[in-house]
Amino acid sequence: MSSHQEIRALTPGDIRARKGGDPLVCLTAYTTPVAQLADAECDLVLVGDSVGMVLHGLPTTLGVTMEMMILHGQAVARGVKRALMVVDMPFASYEEGPTQAYRNAARLMAETGCGAVKLEGGQHMAETIHFLTQRGIPVMGHVGLTPQSVNTLGGYRVQGKGADATRVMHDAQAVAQAGAFSVVLEKVPARLADEITATIDVPTVGIGASAGCDGQILVIDDMLGLFDAFKPKFVKRYAALADDARAAIAAYAEEVRARRFPAAEHIFEDQSK
Ligand code: KIV
Repeated sequence: MSSHQEIRALTPGDIRARKGGDPLVCLTAYTTPVAQLADAECDLVLVGDSVGMVLHGLPTTLGVTMEMMILHGQAVARGVKRALMVVDMPFASYEEGPTQAYRNAARLMAETGCGAVKLEGGQHMAETIHFLTQRGIPVMGHVGLTPQSVNTLGGYRVQGKGADATRVMHDAQAVAQAGAFSVVLEKVPARLADEITATIDVPTVGIGASAGCDGQILVIDDMLGLFDAFKPKFVKRYAALADDARAAIAAYAEEVRARRFPAAEHIFEDQSK
């Protein structure tokens, strides 16, 4: 018998079982070292298609490809041991219908080793979510503000205000009933998020939603203050790494220009001479 204890990764079933329990801690990650840091505290690590904007400088998530998700998914997989790793299905990889979605979701799972995929959309995605979950592909839903639909939504506005609340509620219900093990609620009014959380029987994971959700997720570069071009209201910065990086780079540049770097401790002498 092995003397060391294997670390078991959380499964979609474990996440599903946390409904109404201790809040789920979730973050995005796109690289191995950051995935290792997130894995130490998180229940779920998402390789979000936000990678396109955060790491690749794209203006929206629409230009993100399957190849980008696979490459970043493989990097994150090397850093995640305990958390459930979920990979986002990129724009145009699933919207045509269940068979296209199955083909691409299966590829994401096979090539990254992720435990589940996430896709955006409510009632119109229910058939696809049902198709995938019946065929061995765990799905995390995502309703409210769905950034891949920025052009039809007319921007990154709060969703579900006033009479529109019914649509977002029906979206969350449809996704949960179709078999999703959890649903991201993005940028919806707090009271609506609480009502959805009380209504559906799978965990809600909020981003710009409510502390009453079953869990929370943030984009890691936002919460570390590494991506500081702009700050959405729902982001809390727990560090200011871009400021630290700017100061470090300025100090390096100054020392190189003054020939103070490298110093004696950073160079090699040939002792044989
Ligand atoms: O792509 C992403 O990072 C996301 C989260 C913001 C939920 O979908």
